[in-house]
Amino acid sequence: MENKLLIYNAAEVVTVTEGVKALCGSDMNDITVREKASVLVEGEVIVDVVSTADIDVEALKKEGYDVLDATGCSVTPGFIDSHTHFLFGGYRENEYDMRLKGRSYMDIMNAGGGIAATVDATRAATEEELYRIGTHRLDSMLSMGVTTAEGKSGYGLNEETEMKQLKVLNRLNKDHAVDVVPTFMGPHALPPEYKDNREGFMAEMIDMLPAIKEQNLAEFADIFCEDKVFTVEESRAFLTAAQKVGLKAKMHADEIVTFGGSELAGEIGTISADHLLKASDEGLQAMKKAGTVATILPLTAFSLSEPFARARYMMEQGLAVALATDFNPGSCFCESFPLLIALATNKMHMTIEETIAAITINGAAAIDRADKLGSITVGKQADLLIHEFPSYKFMAYHIAMSTVKKVVKKGKLVYERSF
Ligand code: NIG
Ligand code: FE
Repeated sequence: MENKLLIYNAAEVVTVTEGVKALCGSDMNDITVREKASVLVEGEVIVDVVSTADIDVEALKKEGYDVLDATGCSVTPGFIDSHTHFLFGGYRENEYDMRLKGRSYMDIMNAGGGIAATVDATRAATEEELYRIGTHRLDSMLSMGVTTAEGKSGYGLNEETEMKQLKVLNRLNKDHAVDVVPTFMGPHALPPEYKDNREGFMAEMIDMLPAIKEQNLAEFADIFCEDKVFTVEESRAFLTAAQKVGLKAKMHADEIVTFGGSELAGEIGTISADHLLKASDEGLQAMKKAGTVATILPLTAFSLSEPFARARYMMEQGLAVALATDFNPGSCFCESFPLLIALATNKMHMTIEETIAAITINGAAAIDRADKLGSITVGKQADLLIHEFPSYKFMAYHIAMSTVKKVVKKGKLVYERSF
């Protein structure tokens, strides 16, 4: 019999939007909230959002509906973490300690630490080890309300390990309650064995694209476009080659210095451009014209002790802003949505309404799934959170603490907090 679920008697249902596109600029503040409402799910899909006063629970039970009581609770869409590098071997706790004591991220990277250290550990890890650690990390993300996570490769920097990472990301997508959207990020750093042969490395990465597409191992391609990493020209060549084989493009752009990454994102129409701590006004305009989502990653800025991205300016310019964690072993060993929400609201001066838009519908748009995810809209996938408090405002107010009590994924209860 088909799954039928009634999420009954919520204090409010934060539907966010009726639409299937990112909310841009001032529209991000205008999310929709229905008070005293219930949500009906059939199969994996939302079939109705109704005033609780208008429903007959007993009749619905007879029709086969299971009831999940949401009395006194706020209900929101599941959160979307649209930028992560959660699948990696090893840790780099000493680098964070060095950064706290004054060394810079780029210093450490140029001295042979950084991404290269994680590459060694990820090459050495077996598929099963990565699968186990990936499962554990997704469990942690789910417990804070993440129902869909993008996950990048990029700790292999050679065919064998990049493929291993992509395979594990795909297995996790099949097996775990959290949907995983895999991104091929082979050009994450230049591996030491190619240190005098940049062209050779770029050629190897570009050569991998058709097989990745044919085997359906990734949906997106991404590159670290940054001073002393990959140039704008290398990024253009790699991402346009990816687009040609049918992969969608994302970019790490203007994270450490102003470098022309956001301009390139606009020029070639990437789905998102991410980081943007040092993005220029012109670059942001180019992104806006192309409809590129501006994904900002405040946990990374926090972890690097850098100033936050200009979220308010971006919204004033009419861009669609998404927020994501960037969970990775180097610049941001943190998958915390509660801390992300705290930084966005308190330090970046985004309203809680804008913040919710940025982690739901705009996060969905950043992975090209705004037609399916990111709002409580009839026809969309039933990925829903039941929060312990009656108002979404508690997500900001209960500082850096998760308010998520229950998580429904594709219409099924997949997580319940034990207290
Ligand atoms: O998004 N900037 C490049 N990549 C990651 C960091 C990866 C690492 O340090 O392992 C980021 O910040
Ligand atoms: Fe990143």
